[in-house]
Amino acid sequence: MVEFALPKNSRITEGKTYPAPAGAKRTKTFKVYRWSPDDEANPRVDTYVIDLDACGPMILDAVIHIKNNIDSTLTFRRSCREGICGSCAMNIDGVNTLACTKPIDEIKGDVKIYPLPHMDVVKDLVPDLNAVYAQYASIEPWLKTDSPPPPDRERLQSPGERAKLDGLYECILCFCCSTSCPSYWWNSDRYLGPAVLLQAYRWLADSRDEATGERLDNLEDPFRLYRCHTIMNCTNTCPKGLNPAKAIAKTKMMMVKRQG
Ligand code: SF4
Ligand code: SF4
Ligand code: FES
Repeated sequence: MVEFALPKNSRITEGKTYPAPAGAKRTKTFKVYRWSPDDEANPRVDTYVIDLDACGPMILDAVIHIKNNIDSTLTFRRSCREGICGSCAMNIDGVNTLACTKPIDEIKGDVKIYPLPHMDVVKDLVPDLNAVYAQYASIEPWLKTDSPPPPDRERLQSPGERAKLDGLYECILCFCCSTSCPSYWWNSDRYLGPAVLLQAYRWLADSRDEATGERLDNLEDPFRLYRCHTIMNCTNTCPKGLNPAKAIAKTKMMMVKRQG
């Protein structure tokens, strides 16, 4: 297990404790990071002892249970509950992952839940993603072409060309990888980080795209691409089993090849 640093605004104190409901037979303790711009009592960690018999099996079920039944002020993002939207990414038991696909019973002892590390916090478990989405926009994540499309059909790919997108198109932009990357922690203003670089490679690898040179020019910079030092935290933490470090290495190979 990788222990990550606490969020940027972290002078954390013990907060409130909410005991188990009377009669609960199977209980679990959740220690949850709290921070609010409207509150003096933070940052803090609140403790919730919940009745597992009244709650679903995943960490997201527990967080929703807390919000619905114990403390409605707890704030977090979630949408799909299926590991598809990427919005419930948080640091659970020291690892960045998706709350909706992480079973409660995989965690021994108390469950510690923090927001994704090294991001500013909007409230509680909600990180500020504005900067990382601006970086995503900077790689122009859409098909770019100069040639006209065929008049009677879409732009086709062979099965082999299509297969080159496997391991890339599945990225759900949860940012578990970027927020586990030490290079991104220290240089997130200039280094694009593994999530955005995997997305950049997704378009470099697309046989239909005609802007390869322009895309490589956009990455040719001491910080935007080359701050990756192959530490591999990104690949180890990706909840979708993807390999951003490999995508970055392939991008660097494309740089070398075009330099001749
Ligand atoms: S391999 Fe690169 S992108 Fe991944 S964690 Fe390491 S430095 Fe960051
Ligand atoms: S590569 Fe994996 S960890 Fe990174 S943003 Fe995509 S799905 Fe999330
Ligand atoms: S709620 Fe969509 S990935 Fe977890």
